[in-house]
Amino acid sequence: MRLLKPALTALSAAILFASTTVMADPITIKFSHVVAENTPKGQMAKKFQQLVEERLGDKVDVELYPSSQLYGDDKVLEAMLLGDVQLAAPSLSKFQKYTDQLQVFDLPFLFKDMAAVESFQASETGQSLLTSLESKGLVGLGYLHNGMKQLSASSPLKVPEDANGKKFRIMTSDVLEAQFEAIDAISLKKPFSEVFILLQTRAIDGQENTYSNIYSQKFFEVQPYITESNHGVLDYMVVSSARFWDGLPDDVRGEVKSALDEAIIYGNELSEAKNEEAKQAIIDSGQSEIVTLDDTQRQQWVDAMKPVWGEFAEDIGQDIVDAAEAANQ
Ligand code: LMR
Repeated sequence: MRLLKPALTALSAAILFASTTVMADPITIKFSHVVAENTPKGQMAKKFQQLVEERLGDKVDVELYPSSQLYGDDKVLEAMLLGDVQLAAPSLSKFQKYTDQLQVFDLPFLFKDMAAVESFQASETGQSLLTSLESKGLVGLGYLHNGMKQLSASSPLKVPEDANGKKFRIMTSDVLEAQFEAIDAISLKKPFSEVFILLQTRAIDGQENTYSNIYSQKFFEVQPYITESNHGVLDYMVVSSARFWDGLPDDVRGEVKSALDEAIIYGNELSEAKNEEAKQAIIDSGQSEIVTLDDTQRQQWVDAMKPVWGEFAEDIGQDIVDAAEAANQ
């Protein structure tokens, strides 16, 4: 009997260990974003959730919070650093508090199309920008596309003078502020979730965004004109906090990262079609007219806005601006 007791104690310890291992709570990844589900980012997030469920279902639980349900993009990074959310994909215009370098993406008329954006992001300089948030405790896990921005307004904008004195909502970026200053317009930094009401009540005259966002947020219902300016890019960086990311068990981190990489590829492949689909749906609605620019008109926008580069090149880093420009070749 005396011999049996230690054996029993060891056995119960083993059972206890096994049951706690089996019953360990799954790791929760809260993924908060501001757009609708039927957008490139919304679809990427769903794909990521599905892949993680398939591969790590018992270990990791992905919770999605679209449409600013949990946090707006003005708050999500602070919440992430506090450990309240684990994944987000704010637009590259929303990182100014954390780094100047990502402002390169906001320079007007820098990228001629999404292929140039893609090529810059894949370049050595583009990849090195994924680490530009490290000293602030954030880890860049990849770039995600939306697409080129258009200008929507309550009156037709054909030449820069048409925007004089008009109020536009912008994301929280000083480059975007300078871009509107350059055409003598007024800009207001406002969260995405407030844009529709500001447009509807005519508190502002216009805003800049992709067709996908203009459609899914119903901006086209309250903005009778959309100038197809393609003057800038709206893309995202998928981020996590270093504390959360580095704290994941190695095998889990590896699986989560590969699910994320696949989901990003999926979202990126979808983005162009989503924007085309949204543009067609806006045209079909008859509620907003697409204003196209001829070469002379477009050149006037370029001439008015491009001097903004010079104001920010030093803060961003001239080498970064040059590398981005070179991606157009
Ligand atoms: C915006 O605020 O206009 C966009 O960044 C929203 C988004 O995430 O696409």
